[in-house]
Amino acid sequence: MGLKPILFVPDPLLRKMASPVEEITNDIKQLLDDMAQTMYDAPGIGLAGPQIGELKRVIVMDCSRDEDGDELWQMINPEIIQIAKETTTLEEGCLSIPGHNADVTRPAWVDVRFTDINGTEQQMKAEGLLAACVQHEIDHLNGVLFIDHISKLKKNMIWRKVLKEVRHS
Ligand code: NI
Repeated sequence: MGLKPILFVPDPLLRKMASPVEEITNDIKQLLDDMAQTMYDAPGIGLAGPQIGELKRVIVMDCSRDEDGDELWQMINPEIIQIAKETTTLEEGCLSIPGHNADVTRPAWVDVRFTDINGTEQQMKAEGLLAACVQHEIDHLNGVLFIDHISKLKKNMIWRKVLKEVRHS
């Protein structure tokens, strides 16, 4: 219960495929609340199950940046059902790759279907930062990191620094 340790690259769990949640048990609800707490504490705007070593298809997000209050999303089995043809580029970072950011180009909006914490199926149309965030978090459920979306040169540059940091920690 409470805060969970966040895994960092090159932890192999971050490259694994997460499994769908079959049933919304109290354990799953607790997990989603722990994830929200861990995300706010970090602080970050999104967190996916695999980042705390839980290979389940669950994500939490809050991209409101305290502008008009918290806007916490807790999603179970999120699935992108429609994506924009147009793309947009935003700077991304990741709690599992601390200290490294890069511009990532993704579809400008997406429609997402998910089950909420009460077991109700919902849909969300995400634009702007939230669209980038939900795509980034769903990527985590498939073992994909934002550095997989950038140039090989930039990725290698970040990777070299990451490995150096790992050796020194
Ligand atoms: Ni991330």
